[in-house]
Amino acid sequence: IKEELILNTELVKITTEDCDEKFNKAVELLQNEEVVGMPTETVYGLAGNAFSPLAVSRIFEAKGRPTDNPLIVHISEFSEIYNLVKTVPETAKKLAEKFWPGPLTIILPKADKVPFCTTGNLDTVAVRCPSHEIARKLIKLSGLPLAAPSANLSGKPSPTKAKHVFEDLNGRIPFIIDGGDCKEGVESTVITLAGEKPRLLRPGNVTLKELTEVLGEVEVDDAVLNPLKNNETAASPGMKYKHYSPDAEVFVVEGDMKAVKKKTDELLKENGDKVCGVLTMSENAYDSAIILSGGTTNKQYAKLLFSNLREFDRLGVEVVFAEFESRDGYGLAIRNRLYKAAAHKVIKV
Ligand code: TXA
Ligand code: MG
Repeated sequence: IKEELILNTELVKITTEDCDEKFNKAVELLQNEEVVGMPTETVYGLAGNAFSPLAVSRIFEAKGRPTDNPLIVHISEFSEIYNLVKTVPETAKKLAEKFWPGPLTIILPKADKVPFCTTGNLDTVAVRCPSHEIARKLIKLSGLPLAAPSANLSGKPSPTKAKHVFEDLNGRIPFIIDGGDCKEGVESTVITLAGEKPRLLRPGNVTLKELTEVLGEVEVDDAVLNPLKNNETAASPGMKYKHYSPDAEVFVVEGDMKAVKKKTDELLKENGDKVCGVLTMSENAYDSAIILSGGTTNKQYAKLLFSNLREFDRLGVEVVFAEFESRDGYGLAIRNRLYKAAAHKVIKV
């Protein structure tokens, strides 16, 4: 057994009030090329020095992540982007001014000193300035840009609570900062400015409409809502992997909530021999299933989504019917995550 697999993982509650003293251990680990679980406003990240191939290899190893899937590099303020990219175009400045700190990741041609292991061998780098106070302080105090993918085992739903990180990575990483539940619940919007036109690679809480308002035209990558065709290369390597999957088989039931409920009722009858779960956006319960609430707004649904998927697994659910009715611009991000969790088994009513 490798030494790294028998570590004892420390889980420490840290708030914005006491973080200065309590950060010592985390900062020391980061400066010694180790990795640390940290909260952000979207999901928990697994952070390491973005300039250190050793730290980056530890991130990939702990997650079991394919090494061609690039990491997002986190900074604490806009000016730090100049350490990471070749040049900063006007479009990036405008986006940063409007949405940073916050859940937007911008891809640009990388500076030479960013190692290729961080970018999955691409000559571009993804940069994000999170709004979470604890994440930003950690970056500042460590004095490092922090590469941080979501802190889940590769293929599992992203962690929105420190306990999810512990479930997945206990024994595989030395330290987790428990900063409470993540406010957003789905990962950041990812846009690339490295091509001819701005292109949305992953939708998030910064919506397509908001991006278009700043940039004019924004292309939407095909992989946002469609499965990749066999011979297609992914613009964002992360999109080619099965993603966000609980152990249960997931079906999305999407449309007007009244019709959705009728359909879910039928589906539950057809699947009477299995342990069924329903993720619902309405009040009504079904008696032959385990019900978890997705809230009544897109915002609530997004915040609870990954945690609900993990909970269905914990409860031993075999088939999940995820009801969804898009109610605003955040819907695209939710559909993107749901469709992947369901391996594109979507029932539209
Ligand atoms: O909200 C978030 O973005 C969270 C928190 C921790 O900040 N992080 C996160 O990282 O979701 P990760 O690694 O789970 O997802 C990053 C996505 C992947 O799909 C990856 O392929 C894509 O961004 N990506 C990263 N660098 C890229 C690049 N240079 N070109 C294209 N896609 C890139
Ligand atoms: Mg991820």
